[in-house]
Amino acid sequence: MGESSREERIRLWGVGHLFIIPGSGRRMCARGPRPPLAALRTEPRELHETPRETAALAFWSQWTGAGRQRKHKLMAFTLPELPFSADAIAPISAETLEFHHGKHHNAYVTNLNKLVEGTEFAGASLEDVVKKSSGGVFNNAAQHYNHSFYWNCLGAQGRKAPGGALGKAIDGKWGSFEGFVSEFSTKAATLFGSGWAWLVKNADGSLDITQEPNAGCPLTSGKTPLLTCDVWEHAYYVDFRNARPKYVEAFWGLVNWDFAEKNFG
Ligand SMILES: [Fe+2]
Repeated sequence: MGESSREERIRLWGVGHLFIIPGSGRRMCARGPRPPLAALRTEPRELHETPRETAALAFWSQWTGAGRQRKHKLMAFTLPELPFSADAIAPISAETLEFHHGKHHNAYVTNLNKLVEGTEFAGASLEDVVKKSSGGVFNNAAQHYNHSFYWNCLGAQGRKAPGGALGKAIDGKWGSFEGFVSEFSTKAATLFGSGWAWLVKNADGSLDITQEPNAGCPLTSGKTPLLTCDVWEHAYYVDFRNARPKYVEAFWGLVNWDFAEKNFG
């Protein structure tokens, strides 16, 4: 029997290969170049000890759930890096970011990974989990999604207002950019308790500003999120104490309009 027939390789959607490891019956897949045959023959137990093979097994797990046996190595969801340096978005301080990103957001990711273990959501995309889950899984998945989105909304590049199609759509809906800012700020400041203010695009292409309490996310109502402002106290209490309106006012000087315009399409 030749090497290639022992390997039993099958194409997977054109994005990788499925392998049956000789002598063990175990299967795995890999994107791109296949694992070394020598390793497959002699050291199958060590295949998962390298980042590349762990990543391959994670991909296989997403398709079949087979990787759940090694769930301690398959952290499906990860805390994203901030898209700016910790001192780049004053008056929101590095201390706020240390807790908001490093503690609060990180806890949502950690909790989510624990909650989805062994469930139908293991290996699912974050957006799918947000749309289809409820209870604790939803709360942590949506908070992971919302915070990841929020970080991308910050880090202004010097532009204080959107242009292009989004700028025109905002002018068309609210009369002016200032009119939009006024309504968004009021909704952000008056949302009772914890939650999020969102600029969203409806299915018909029109714009709206929504208030979402707690972990609320526009994905669950079929809306396209364009921009969000986190109004949980942990987003502003270190820098602004209880003055949420001052935090919202500062938010407008930090918005990454490139991101919002890209979301608008
Ligand atoms: Fe937050």
